[in-house]
Amino acid sequence: MDRKTEAFDERYRLGRQLVDQLGDAGGEPSTFELLGKEWDLLAGTYEPRQGTGTEWYTGAIPYPPAGRFLEIGCGAGVTAVWAALHGCDHVTATDITDTAVGTATLNAERHGVEDRVRVLRSDVFDGLDADERFDMVFWNCSVFEAPREFEFTRDFEWAIFDRGYQALGRYLAQVHDRLLPGGRALVTFNTLGDTDRIAQLAAEADTSLTLLGSADRRLAGVEVTYKLFEILRDDR
Ligand SMILES: C[S@@+](CC[C@H](N)C(=O)[O-])C[C@H]1O[C@@H](n2cnc3c(N)ncnc32)[C@H](O)[C@@H]1O
Repeated sequence: MDRKTEAFDERYRLGRQLVDQLGDAGGEPSTFELLGKEWDLLAGTYEPRQGTGTEWYTGAIPYPPAGRFLEIGCGAGVTAVWAALHGCDHVTATDITDTAVGTATLNAERHGVEDRVRVLRSDVFDGLDADERFDMVFWNCSVFEAPREFEFTRDFEWAIFDRGYQALGRYLAQVHDRLLPGGRALVTFNTLGDTDRIAQLAAEADTSLTLLGSADRRLAGVEVTYKLFEILRDDR
């Protein structure tokens, strides 16, 4: 087995381990605490516990004042709600799973921002109207690459795995078409994923990644560095 295949297998195994450690066992709706607030959680939705990237990214994002903010893959909706509570006039929060859409809707209501947070189901940008544009687009993406033939059997797996990094590739290639003039495109990644591959995908999309900030944490006993990038078009 070559070193590349070995590294892929090792990351994939860690992804599976995190699904087991962090995923729910199909339980009842519950609540969790993060960033000094209480949040709803429907079973199957990724719970952004202490030490997950969500906690750090949510405070590190330079939200556009009075702007339009789009979060892809909103999960429980913590970042989307935070954006609405911290100056954004309009927030669209999307996720590919119905459980995340349900959870984010509950959290927009719980925190009294349902008038400016719209939650909808979407596979990356596919569920948005063709002409929708934003001042900032953000995705805390799923960093573990799954084999292309991988079958998702639990909603929670979508928060960990991306088949062949196809969703991330689409995000990098299409995000600039979703920006208003002067708008900014952000994406997260971390050292548990394949950092060479995200650089390669960015180059294939004629974009470059500029690091806005990073933070070292431990997640489920594993050292991890979270990174927040701005995606810039190479022709700019
Ligand atoms: C790492 S989790 C982040 C969740 C949440 N934003 C947070 O920070 O806690 C990635 C999220 O992206 C969603 N996701 C995965 N693939 C997606 C796709 N193709 N389109 C939209 N959302 C997707 C997952 O369901 C999951 O909620």
